[in-house]
Formats: sequence, C-alpha cells, structure tokens
Amino acid sequence: MGHAEVLDVVTDPERYSSATSRFLQVPNGLDGAAHRLFRRALDAYFTPARMAALEPAVRDVARRVVSELPRGEAVDFTRDLGTRYAVQVMLAWLGWPDELEEELVEWVFENAAATRSRELERTTAAAEHFDHIIDRVIAPRLERREDEPRDVTDELLRERVDGRLLTRPELVSVLRNWTGGDLGSMALCVGVIGHQLAVSPDVEADVRSRRNDPDGLAAALDELLRIDDPFVSNRRKATKDTEIAGCPVHAGQRVLVDWTNANRDPRVFQDPDRYDPEQHAQLNLVYGAGPHVCPGRPLATLELRVLFEELLDATTDLSHDPGSPGVRAQRPLGGWSSSPVVLTWGGAA
Ligand code: HEM
Repeated sequence: MGHAEVLDVVTDPERYSSATSRFLQVPNGLDGAAHRLFRRALDAYFTPARMAALEPAVRDVARRVVSELPRGEAVDFTRDLGTRYAVQVMLAWLGWPDELEEELVEWVFENAAATRSRELERTTAAAEHFDHIIDRVIAPRLERREDEPRDVTDELLRERVDGRLLTRPELVSVLRNWTGGDLGSMALCVGVIGHQLAVSPDVEADVRSRRNDPDGLAAALDELLRIDDPFVSNRRKATKDTEIAGCPVHAGQRVLVDWTNANRDPRVFQDPDRYDPEQHAQLNLVYGAGPHVCPGRPLATLELRVLFEELLDATTDLSHDPGSPGVRAQRPLGGWSSSPVVLTWGGAA
C-alpha cells in the first residue's frame, strides 16, 4: 500500500473500522461518536500550554541521561539512551514513582522480543505484565478520587467522558496507549535519528544549524523519521465490500496500513532518501492521518527535540563505527533495534 492508498483508508473510517482487536482499546479501537468523545477529552492532555509547562521537566531528564552516558565507547541510541530517556520522561509526565524505572526498561525489551517472536502467548504475557504495572499504580489512587489531582494520572482518573468517569478497564487502556506503545516507539525514534546523524555529516550539519530554532529542528527530526519510519503499521477492518487501487477488499477483511512504505512511496517522494524537511512536511505520515492521527505527537516531538538539543549542546560530532553498524529491527518493528553512535564530547559537556 502506497501513500495515496494509506490516506484513502485512514481518512474513511466509515469504510474502514479501527475495531480490529478483541481487547478494549481506548481510543484507538473505537469508531465514530464514541471515538470522537474520547478524543475530545484526551486531546486536551497534549495542548501547547501543557507541553510548554512540561518542557522544563523533560529537559531535566534529557540533561541527566545525556550527562550519564558512558565516555570513550559507542552509545546504543535505541537500547540505552532511547529506552531510558522514554521511561524517565514518562514517569515524570504521569507522576509515577521512580522505583518503576528498571521494571519498565525491562518491560520495553520484553515487549520488543515478544513482538518480534509473533507468538501470541508471549505478546499476551507482555501486555498482561504491563496492565499489571498500571493496575498497581492506579489502585491506591482510585481510593482518593475525590481529592485534588496531584498529577496527570490523577487528572485522568477524574476525567469525564460523556458526563461519566472512566471505568477501570478504560483507564488501564488509555494509560497503556499513552505509555506501552510510546516507550518502544520513542526508543526506536531516538535510534533512527541518531543513526542518520551519525552516517550523514551533511544532515548532521543541517540539524546543528537548527539548534536555536525549535520548529525548524522539530521539522528536521520529523523528516528523519519519515525517511526511516520506525512506527511501521496499524490495522483496519473493511466494513463493506470495497476496493483499494483496483484491488477488491471484502467486508470484514483486515487491511494493513503501512506507514513506513507510504512515507517512502516514490510516487510522492521522488527520491525517498532525500532529506528535505520543509518540502516534505505536508506529506509526512509518521504520525498518521485522519480521525486517529496521533494525539501524542506534541509530546513525542517535545521529547525528541529536547533530547537532541541537549545532545547537540554536549557534543561536537556524532559518527559511526563502520565495524559496528548496528542491528536492524525486524518487522513488525522498524528502525534499529541496536543503533551504536560514537559521540565526540565538547561544548557544554
Ligand atoms: C514516538 C513517536 C510516535 C509515533 C511515530 C506515533 C505514531 C502514531 C500513529 C501513526 C498513529 C495512528 C494510528 C492509526 O491510525 O491507527 C498513532 C496513534 C496514537 N498515538 Fe502515537 N505515536 C508516537 C508517540 C505517541 C505518544 C508519545 C503518545 C501518547 C503519550 C501516543 C499516543 C497515541 C494514541 C493514543 C493513538 C491512537 C489515537 C486514536 O486512535 O484516536 N503516541 N500514533
């Protein structure tokens, strides 16, 4: 499926339902009015004002993880830097205890291994482990739902959708979507961007020139994710007999929305490897499109921008040891499961 076909599918929710799982998925597995109600309530957690208020905490985490990176050896941007950073930002954002850090880091690896194995038993076990972590976090907080909220998790527990509080399974599902999916993708995003900066001095020079231009830097990072999109695919289910680019699709049939392929469709991006942030921004599908477009994009962008700002400040060069090229992730994951980058420290380091 190319760019046009992906857009055709994801912008027509009446023809292609997102209810593809037997598990409750809020909001991603919902359609129509129910989906709109949840999105209206949940999108409010990612407004520009909220992101601006969160930025100092994100920067503290970024400074700390960058300052703690080992010197004199390559840094694995996906496994070490990306995973630890994603987990620490998530704990700070949601107000969860720091003691969960190691368990969550381990969980990201366990979940990636389970996804790679494609074994239902392993993916179910990883999902259940995550739900158990969330349950442990929210159980004591549900007891004091009447008190003033102290953080984003407390606020979510008091959120009303269509005039009612969310049920416990709904809360677990929202938090799973905000965290479980994000941790792995954020780590892969850090790996993909680090790799491209390390192998391409021209791209690195351009990205460094955007250091004091937050929007320009964010556009550059989006473009690097387009070129090697680590968030590979989502699913839909046809609600009626239809067709995609002349290929018949029957009611009930599953359709794979392949973001990675769409983002490298040569009919849209003549040379998919060409780095051109401004020109390609409008066509970039890294964060999806249509009613299910990623609500967490502002947070993901904030996290990535701040991390790379801190990295650029602390280093003078990112390079690559041709002897350890890293390990490509296997579908259904994308990007690099291991992305070693050699850092030349300098500047503020
Ligand atoms: C790390 C980089 C990220 C990428 C590349 C990414 C990408 C995407 C894409 C392509 C979709 C569309 C799914 C579809 O159409 O079925 C999506 C949906 C979603 N994303 Fe993200 N995302 C990222 C980070 C985040 C973050 C940080 C959060 C929240 C904290 C988040 C929460 C969600 C949720 C809840 C949905 C489902 C929305 C709905 O169904 O209405 N994502 N994301």
